[in-house]
Amino acid sequence: MPRNLLGIRHLANDDIEELLSISADFKLRINEGREVPNLSNQVVGMLFFENSTRTRVSFEQAAYYLKMKTANFSAGGSSMAKGETFRDTVLTLRYERLNGLVMRHRASGSAALAAKYFGGPVLNAGDGQHEHPTQALADALTILERKGDIKGLQVAIVGDVEHSRVARSNAWLLSKFGADIRYVGPRTLMPPHMQMLPGEVFYDLRAGIEGADVIICLRLQKERMADGMLSSISEYASMYQINRETLRWANRDCLVMHPGPINRGVEVDDVAADGERSVITNQIENGIFVRMAALYWVFTTEPKPVESPPPAKTRPTRSAKAPARTASKAKKAVAGGKKK
Ligand code: MLT
Repeated sequence: MPRNLLGIRHLANDDIEELLSISADFKLRINEGREVPNLSNQVVGMLFFENSTRTRVSFEQAAYYLKMKTANFSAGGSSMAKGETFRDTVLTLRYERLNGLVMRHRASGSAALAAKYFGGPVLNAGDGQHEHPTQALADALTILERKGDIKGLQVAIVGDVEHSRVARSNAWLLSKFGADIRYVGPRTLMPPHMQMLPGEVFYDLRAGIEGADVIICLRLQKERMADGMLSSISEYASMYQINRETLRWANRDCLVMHPGPINRGVEVDDVAADGERSVITNQIENGIFVRMAALYWVFTTEPKPVESPPPAKTRPTRSAKAPARTASKAKKAVAGGKKK
């Protein structure tokens, strides 16, 4: 049975630590010009049914560093535009002998469905408002590099929580490792069943970010929004924008994060997005290393418990170049890059 990466919520802490450990190790190796594992016998399909810049390109970069081959696919240029079903498309890719899929789709739960039909490793690159696991891993790696630990951090997730898979994956990951999560935004942009997510809700920006160590800004995801959820963008910005003035309410060394794409002047201003507390560009860069780790992890590891191992010749060999997978290694590797 192959391993998938479909979300953070149901991932064990050990698995998350292992993924972060591998990411930190790959980052070091790439930065030092050292070798990384070679997965050149694997072909991964890149299925993006929704727009993407960062996630798509960083998965491509990750595959390139691991010497994997990629098969690109976009819904508009495929047989789905001729009426083929999602199931038939995924099955076609399976019988075309792709070894795994990276998939983004507007429907929540679509990655799990693809994993069911495809049967091979599937990596969720964002499914509707559900999860975006590799973004949460990139954010966790960025926070660890700057703060050294996640435990005890006050993390404010500000904006359109209702439509954000990034908010959900981050909330699951950071709360698993002991951060306190606050969701900040207007009532209309909070999920109706907030009790299902870990953390506390604030409708007032000042109360929500006071004393925060990390602010994760979210874009207004209008493509998933029903009419009437907001009275106006400028009113929203006047109440919830992270900017020079409002940042004063957070801790002095508070990190400003944003998964992108940024709508400057709406959820964040230039001072906050480009200032010294911003780690937005670090999030983008770390996206490559966590996606390398994610590809390596699903392609080279059997899930527990192992039911029936696939034939040896389809699996890449783990050589002396394989990264260490222990949690203590993760902390050490990340601590190496930590800024005080
Ligand atoms: C996403 O795909 O969810 C993005 O990274 C965040 C966004 O679209 O605002």
